[in-house]
Amino acid sequence: MLESNPHRHSPWALASDSRRLNQLFGNDELLPLWIAEPYVPLAEPIRSAIEQRASVGWYGYETRPNSVQTAFWDWMASRHGWSGEGLSATVSPSVGSSIAVLVNELTDEGDGVIIQPPVFTDFKPLIAAAGRTVVRNPLVLGDDGYQMDIDGLEESTSEPSVRVMILCNPHNPVGRLWSKQELRSVARICADNGVAVIADEIHADLVLPPNTFVPFAEAAKATDVIWASTHGPIKTFGLAGVCDTLLVTDNDDVATQFKAASRRLHLTRNNVFATAAFETAYREGGEWLDDLLDLITSNISRLNAGLDEAIRVMPQQATYLSWLDLRQLGLDVPQLTHWLTAAGLALSPGHWFGREGAGFARMSIAAEPAVIDEAISRLNKGVASAT
Ligand SMILES: Cc1ncc(COP(=O)(O)O)c(C=O)c1O
Repeated sequence: MLESNPHRHSPWALASDSRRLNQLFGNDELLPLWIAEPYVPLAEPIRSAIEQRASVGWYGYETRPNSVQTAFWDWMASRHGWSGEGLSATVSPSVGSSIAVLVNELTDEGDGVIIQPPVFTDFKPLIAAAGRTVVRNPLVLGDDGYQMDIDGLEESTSEPSVRVMILCNPHNPVGRLWSKQELRSVARICADNGVAVIADEIHADLVLPPNTFVPFAEAAKATDVIWASTHGPIKTFGLAGVCDTLLVTDNDDVATQFKAASRRLHLTRNNVFATAAFETAYREGGEWLDDLLDLITSNISRLNAGLDEAIRVMPQQATYLSWLDLRQLGLDVPQLTHWLTAAGLALSPGHWFGREGAGFARMSIAAEPAVIDEAISRLNKGVASAT
């Protein structure tokens, strides 16, 4: 069973959290639910694999065994019915480094790269830092939640300077899981216009039943779209501080270019703990993940039942990130940012994810129910004081 994470209350965690809380929110007394990671203890088999590796007392160079990739594909086949046939999976230190490398490899300076805001904060700075142009194809917000703007995508991709689209599936922060039909539309449009797709699928395992994850690889099959997708256990199991990721593609040229650029930039160093954690997560983490998905599902019900009706929890099909619609409070961006901290909460204000996120806030709900109840109580008190 999942319990509260004792390490989050250890002196080390407190020190590191207070530093980050002070930097970002100017206050270290807030209830922190803003980082996209589970606020529960690591799965026991992973912790013990890391401890066992630590006990060896040898931390020099270690060749990464091929069994790392085998463990990933076995997991994908059993959890998502996705086989690795015809696909390559290359190890990469992080999702961000994979995207940065690919943007550089697949585009030239000044070329356009499409993103769909509100979306994960790192995409825009990675594109800008590479000297490429951010092309916005914002999600459309309707009564049932968020949809892709497919007409807008047709239009953006028809611009010759647009060469890459970064797709986020499941979509952080709005919690949408894109359907096979939506993904097929993306694949077809991008194929027709010679736009490559980087599908960031790092939240793939965090799909809430009865929903099922469709890899972009599957949707792309009927087209000749060039694509690559990012995977790994870092978000699912809270291993971002230790673990590697994978870059998957069916395209030999993309795989070769990616490997060559990784070598050139020396992004190939192994971390002995990452190797142990990666494989154990995929071999032995299933039960822990099932518990986590149950916890997320029940915390969504808690939010829906407990929050003041001025706050709407947007429909969430995946991730442990709830997207709260606070627009009824009628606050502008600085006011809402202040309102959240005045309520005693460190959440991610929606405008961090693009201007379309204004009026919303993202909250990690991979936490024990008592923590979620506390957050609900603080939000409700905030509503009472604002109205
Ligand atoms: C969609 C998405 N991609 C990438 C990342 C970050 O991955 P990395 O730290 O490996 O760059 C996150 C982290 O929250 C994320 O939500």
